[in-house]
Amino acid sequence: MNIGILNAGGDCPGLNAVIEGAVGAATARGWTVYGFYDGFEGLLSTPDNERWRILTRANCLNIRAQGGTILGTVNQGNFTVKSGVGGRMEIAKEVLDRSRETVERLGLSALIVVGGDGSQTIGMELRKIGLPIVGVPKTIDNDLGATDYTFGFWTAACVVSTNLDRLRTTAYSHQRMMVVEVMGRHAGWIGLYGGISGGADVILIPEIPFTLEDVVRKVELLKALGQREIIVVVSEGATIGGKLITLDEETKGEVRLGGIANFLSTKLETITGIETRYCVLGHVQRGGSPIPFDRVLGVRCGAKAVQLIEEGKFGETVALRGVDMESMPIEDAVRTLHLVDKQSQIVEAAREIGISFGDESLQA
Ligand code: F6P
Repeated sequence: MNIGILNAGGDCPGLNAVIEGAVGAATARGWTVYGFYDGFEGLLSTPDNERWRILTRANCLNIRAQGGTILGTVNQGNFTVKSGVGGRMEIAKEVLDRSRETVERLGLSALIVVGGDGSQTIGMELRKIGLPIVGVPKTIDNDLGATDYTFGFWTAACVVSTNLDRLRTTAYSHQRMMVVEVMGRHAGWIGLYGGISGGADVILIPEIPFTLEDVVRKVELLKALGQREIIVVVSEGATIGGKLITLDEETKGEVRLGGIANFLSTKLETITGIETRYCVLGHVQRGGSPIPFDRVLGVRCGAKAVQLIEEGKFGETVALRGVDMESMPIEDAVRTLHLVDKQSQIVEAAREIGISFGDESLQA
């Protein structure tokens, strides 16, 4: 049997682990694995411009430890799901036809799509034209309702934590405040876990509206207590008065997030008089080697995807529930975003240890 695998959307630590897991489980069954280059674009291969290669146990050996993806990936491209007539999501018919041709020409019995909600939505469109799709959820943002944790998230949280340790020492030396911007889109998981782990004094996330006054109050209290360094973590998707602070306007219908740390540090320095610097951690959160948890989760996702193929469960995606790998329909998986619950125990624990979410006056 021949199967294909591709990853699409932003890269994520652990993608290579998924590939290695799938290749290991598939080749153990005597199957051949086609790895498509550059996301869905690889499906637009033609005999004189093939955009795939055969993946074997030997050429994937220990790639689980490598960051990025050996297959490359594309965020925007020919498969960008466009909002067509009546808000319907559409991929051009020619693109769908060419994808089907490739799958038929290579004799693929299944295609594993590793991606976030956008890529899984594209996978559903391919499923609708009859392609045998199995999904694997992917994102550092940890915002997919399908699964308790996505691989890559804990690596990103570790990067935040490690860098807060570094920023703390320089902030201490200079008696400065550091405003540190982290990724996560509209979910605060990276800010929350990275911030708690790295000892942030204030954590500002999209799910908990904050006021500048509350942040200032907390900062001034810490100063009055004699704390030399102050660390404020802010998620790129956090809002002020319900408004996103971004550098860019819409890019192909999707706002490119980023810029709130700059804005906030200027405001906080002006109001408090404390010398302040900002730091945008950016794509370092996505790069580099995955931590052990993400390697293990990645290979489990790959192996589980192969099991789903064997069971003929097309249109399903792999999901981590508790400690078990399970599966669910892709359409259910992309329906809900997994966001931080502001009443949850983790938020409560953070508050207990003195972390401010900048919302104290809103709680009263
Ligand atoms: O979804 C993952 C993510 O890293 C977000 O946290 C971030 O907003 C976005 O991708 C960045 O995308 P790009 O790589 O296109 O700049």
